[in-house]
Amino acid sequence: MSLFARKDLQSLLREAEGETAGLKRALGPFNLITPGIGAIIGTGIFVLTGPVAAENAGPAIVLSFVIAGIACAFAGLCYAEFASLIPIAGSAYSYSYTTLGEIVAWMIGWALVLEYAFGAATVAVGWSGYINSFLQDMGIHLPPTLTAAPGTTIVLTNGRWERLGSLTGVNVANLPHVVSHFDLIAFLGIALVTSVLVIGIKESANLNTGIVVVKVSVLLIFIGLGIDFLSVQHWAPAAANWHPFIPPNLGHFGEFGWSGVLRGAGIIFFAYIGFDAVSTAAQEASNPQRDMPIGILGSLVICTVLYILVGGILTALLPYHLLNVPDPVAIGVDKTGVAWGSFLVKIGAIGGLTSTMLVMLLGQSRVFFTMAHDGLLWKWAGKVHKKFHTPYLSSIVIGVCVAMLAATLPITTLDELTSIGTLFAFTIVCAGVWILRVREPNLKRPFKTPWVPFVPIMGMLVSLVLMLSLHALTWEVFLIWLVVGLFVYALYSRKHSKVQQELRGVSAD
Ligand code: ALA
Repeated sequence: MSLFARKDLQSLLREAEGETAGLKRALGPFNLITPGIGAIIGTGIFVLTGPVAAENAGPAIVLSFVIAGIACAFAGLCYAEFASLIPIAGSAYSYSYTTLGEIVAWMIGWALVLEYAFGAATVAVGWSGYINSFLQDMGIHLPPTLTAAPGTTIVLTNGRWERLGSLTGVNVANLPHVVSHFDLIAFLGIALVTSVLVIGIKESANLNTGIVVVKVSVLLIFIGLGIDFLSVQHWAPAAANWHPFIPPNLGHFGEFGWSGVLRGAGIIFFAYIGFDAVSTAAQEASNPQRDMPIGILGSLVICTVLYILVGGILTALLPYHLLNVPDPVAIGVDKTGVAWGSFLVKIGAIGGLTSTMLVMLLGQSRVFFTMAHDGLLWKWAGKVHKKFHTPYLSSIVIGVCVAMLAATLPITTLDELTSIGTLFAFTIVCAGVWILRVREPNLKRPFKTPWVPFVPIMGMLVSLVLMLSLHALTWEVFLIWLVVGLFVYALYSRKHSKVQQELRGVSAD
């Protein structure tokens, strides 16, 4: 029995035929950039910009955005080669199964759970922050004990319940305050999206384009209002709030200074997750060699520019230490004094984040479904509903777990676990592209990553540096996660793997 047994490329391509048969090579560069932006913009920019600026990088969050963007560019080019080589609407899991072997595929699939499931939970917590803020604007106050992760202190100030972390210099003893038990809104958000997934959705290109337009417009409006306000003030707030641009380190790794910029990049890397959505459209690109890099790098460049502008303007409008709030972009726009600005940002964020949650949970159920189909996970995970034709059981089980994670863990913990899992998958994908070039140089590659091995090596290096910048606790949970994964593999997957059964000559039912 070989741990590195590989799935036969030809049989995978035959399997994929069903999926890709009706697809035309019709997508040009613009149609590749749009889904990328749709999957990318979410909680990262709308929420995490605040805590990262407040706790790690200060105004230098713009440098964190640049570093994280560069890591994604290298990895994105490697994803594109795999995606065009194995043209199925799959993920890094499927690419590695045919090229690097079962155990590597298993590890990637297991790490992708961190990317998608923990990612969806992170987005749900961000969504909850905006919903709660919006409801309070409307005069609706939910019980504060049900609005944040357990242990979060919520303080009543100016008629609103605010998380303590967002209030500086407040003496809690003098104000009404409670400790939260459960983030019910985040829980319900995941429950809602899971129900949609169980019933089944038709992915509509028009709806997707509409959501992209809303998300980008909201960010552009914020940028426009911010620049207008700052220029009327002759940029005086910027001069005060950007000084010092890189706040001095507080004595610990990751708390401001250059190490803070680096940890900020590791955390804010989350804001870019989703660009791999472009690579999965490789089989539909009319000219993959030219258009895939345009699609991947184009969506990354557009998002990087938007993120730098939003991060820079936000930290110019408000002192960075005031940004540790669930809805930083909304409080930034409040500062400009434009009454409708905050309403617009909140509506845009709530709509935009709903679609990001959907994309992530859909990704998760696809990975589980494929792994179950390959015999690496239990059969129930691949069970399809007779009427809805969706993998309903895995969607429900994933939905319940993700909803509990979202309701009980703080956003920064969820975010770091998502980042480390995704960066791990990136590292293996980059290594895979390089290994395969050496091992099978003659495979037909509709898109070839430029400058191999430089690009894969840089992709691995930058990803590893970003992983190393994360908290020790994140590493501990990540390593435990991998060990649990290896146990599941050893105790179940190895015996039930269809590839292994075929190797042994056993009929793979
Ligand atoms: N990049 C996505 C977000 O920021 C996952 O929500």
